[in-house]
Amino acid sequence: MQAPRIDLFEWLLHHASTAKYNLAYSNISGLTVEEFTELTSFLLPNTFDLGVNQQYGASELKECLRSLYDCTVNNIVTTTGASEANYLVFSSLLSKGDEFIVEQPGYQPMWLTPEMLGAQRINWPRTFENEFRVDLEALKNLFTKKTKLVVLTNLHNPSGVYTDATTIKAVAEVACDHDAFVLVDEIFLDGAITKKPSSFGLPNVLVTSSATKIYGLGGLHSGWIVAPEEIAMRCQRMKAHTTGASSYVSEIMTARLLKDARDTVMKRFQKQATTNRAILKKWMNQNPDILTWVEPEGGLVCFPKYSLKLPSVDLCKHLFETQKVLVNPGAYFNSEGFIRLSFGCDSEILQNGLEALAIGMQNLSHVRPM
Ligand SMILES: Cc1ncc(COP(=O)(O)O)c(C=O)c1O
Repeated sequence: MQAPRIDLFEWLLHHASTAKYNLAYSNISGLTVEEFTELTSFLLPNTFDLGVNQQYGASELKECLRSLYDCTVNNIVTTTGASEANYLVFSSLLSKGDEFIVEQPGYQPMWLTPEMLGAQRINWPRTFENEFRVDLEALKNLFTKKTKLVVLTNLHNPSGVYTDATTIKAVAEVACDHDAFVLVDEIFLDGAITKKPSSFGLPNVLVTSSATKIYGLGGLHSGWIVAPEEIAMRCQRMKAHTTGASSYVSEIMTARLLKDARDTVMKRFQKQATTNRAILKKWMNQNPDILTWVEPEGGLVCFPKYSLKLPSVDLCKHLFETQKVLVNPGAYFNSEGFIRLSFGCDSEILQNGLEALAIGMQNLSHVRPM
């Protein structure tokens, strides 16, 4: 099996360290140890055994997630980030020749991973014209006898648009009629402007998430799956073939933060995100000839449209080379004519980065509009 290249990751890997204005990462700034300790008053004791692991995930984290999702521990699989969570779901539910339906634009691993496993992709468009909303009628026509899974993100990566519980329920019902499951990646959900419920609870819905984006714990890389028991068991069994157990230290630290300070870190997130969204909105309103957008309903990313007749990779290379502004090409989310712009960075970097982006785009005014 050949692992397909994930362009988005390679792009970030090659450019992030030399960008002056990084408007490409999708996480909030990380918590320092000092902040973490202040929030949780948790320190590893000197006698703590660093050789210890819990095969089925740290009971502290599972208990915390059990309470957050109002489920049993048998519904939970702890993972190394949402990356492993999604991998375990795909590899547990899809076999060669199966079909999966996936939102487009979307986050590349959500189709490259299942395709790598031999499953067939069916694209489910979420259009700019329809404000990136989920289109139920379009979905209904995509099922075949081979469809096993419907894949979406909530909030939507790349647009930051929220899909409400009624819509997810309707998606789940359509999928249920076709004996298919629905995977909802909720990694950005706790970053919604107003608190939103998880979609876990419907009989054929699985959710994945992690503490890497909203909570500032990317380095700990703790994630999870919450799924109907039988599916959780299959994912847990599959985990023996990936990481076995995830880092126990990461899991107990993540558990402590979620237990002692979840609301506080969510407020920390909202404070930064609200300030930056206001900066971005003002800039968007002043520059409608450069970018037009669907306003995100939280999170840290949006997916504005540009009107120049230029491939998004060329545009982003130009912005990087001339202005040192790093944004992500729409092509890496399978949508030309867009860029993914993130606003989780320091506010001053965002403000200056947007000004540099405007100059970079204006320098291309000789390029024909689409
Ligand atoms: C939708 C989505 N799922 C999963 C991930 C990976 O998450 P993690 O860092 O927890 O592995 C990302 C990272 O950007 C993401 O955007």
